[in-house]
Amino acid sequence: MNGEELVERAEAAAERAYAPYSNYLVGAAVLARDGRVFEGVNVENAAYPLGICAEQTAIAKAASEGIRPGELEAIGSTASPCGGCRQWLHEWRFEHVFFRNADGTIAEYAPADLLPDTWDLPEA
Ligand code: THU
Repeated sequence: MNGEELVERAEAAAERAYAPYSNYLVGAAVLARDGRVFEGVNVENAAYPLGICAEQTAIAKAASEGIRPGELEAIGSTASPCGGCRQWLHEWRFEHVFFRNADGTIAEYAPADLLPDTWDLPEA
């Protein structure tokens, strides 16, 4: 599955977003190395800060099926990932991040390009 196809999966998922407060519908799709694809949407909450991003939902779905960091190859999103999501992308060791530019083309980044000087919890 290429970047364009992953973003298309994200765009289809976005129709299921739960975003009654912002009305900004976001979808994401993550591709696991074993070929599985997990889709996610933003899920908002009346206590606004409690809402979660589409990227986080997709990763959480993969994690809950047993996927671990290093096993997710690529993510496609309908939005350029927010700052917090960039830390998630670092944690999960993605290789490729795709999203659609305003002009319709597909942007591709490595997580390190989106979040330089990354932070990890020091080893105990
Ligand atoms: N949002 C995402 O789901 N992903 C992003 O990378 C950007 C922001 C959501 C969060 C919130 O539900 C809505 O977009 C407006 O900020």
